[in-house]
Amino acid sequence: MKLIPQHTDLKDFASMAESFRTLMTYYRCAIMEVETKFRVLDVQLSLDGENNPIETIKTRLKRPESIAAKVRRRGIPFTLEAIEQNLFDIAGVRVICSFPEDIYRLADCLLRQDDVTLIERKDYIQNPKPNGYRSLHLIIEIPIYLQNTKRMMKVEVQLRTIAMDFWASLEHKLRYKKDLRDTEHYDQISQKLKACADMSAALDSQMEAIRNQIEGI
Ligand code: GTP
Ligand code: MG
Repeated sequence: MKLIPQHTDLKDFASMAESFRTLMTYYRCAIMEVETKFRVLDVQLSLDGENNPIETIKTRLKRPESIAAKVRRRGIPFTLEAIEQNLFDIAGVRVICSFPEDIYRLADCLLRQDDVTLIERKDYIQNPKPNGYRSLHLIIEIPIYLQNTKRMMKVEVQLRTIAMDFWASLEHKLRYKKDLRDTEHYDQISQKLKACADMSAALDSQMEAIRNQIEGI
C-alpha cells in the first residue's frame, strides 16, 4: 500500500504528517473528555451512597500502523477526511465496572448528557458473540473545545465487568497467537474459552445477586 502518493515532495509530506499529528491530538483530547465524564459519574454515583461503580478506566489511541491496516482492509481512501468519517475506533475508552448493572447505569448517565450523541450501540452482553465475548460497545460523538472552535469527535467506549475483561484479555492473546491457528489446538482452545465465557457470565450474575442481597439487608 502506498501511504504517500508517488510525487509527494518533502514539503507536502511534512504538511501531511503535521495534519495527521493534529488529528491524533484532537482524538487524544476527546479521550480526555470522555474519561473525565466517567470519573465524574463515578464520584457522583458513590456520593449517592453506592460503591464506586468503576474499577478501572483504560484508554488508547489507535496506532498509525493499525489505522493504516484498517484503512487498507476496508478499502477506504487514504485521506484524513475519509479516516475520520469511517474509522470510529481511533479513540478508545474502556470502562471496567464491578457489576453488569453498573454498566447500563453508567451508559445511561453518559448518553443522557446533552453534549453526547450516540452513533452506534452494540450490546454484546444481551447478545454475546458466538465465541463468548461480552461487553457493551458505544460509539459516541462529543465536542472538544479548541482555541476558537468546537470540533465533534467520535470515541469508541467499551463497558465491561472485571470478569468480562479478564476473559477478553486472554481471548485476545489467543486470537493473535498466529502459530496456534490451523492447528487442532485452536478449535479445542476456542471451545474451552467459550466454556470459560459462560462461567464468567454466571459468576457476574451470582456476584450481582450477592451484592443486591447485601444491599437489601
Ligand atoms: P472492527 O472495529 O473492525 O473490529 O469491527 P466492529 O466495529 O464490528 O467491531 P466490534 O464493535 O464488534 O468490536 C470492536 C472492538 O471490540 C475490538 O477492537 C476489540 O477491542 C473488542 N472485541 C470485539 N470482539 C471481540 C472478541 O471476540 N474478543 C475480544 N477479546 N475483543 C473483542
Ligand atoms: Mg469497531
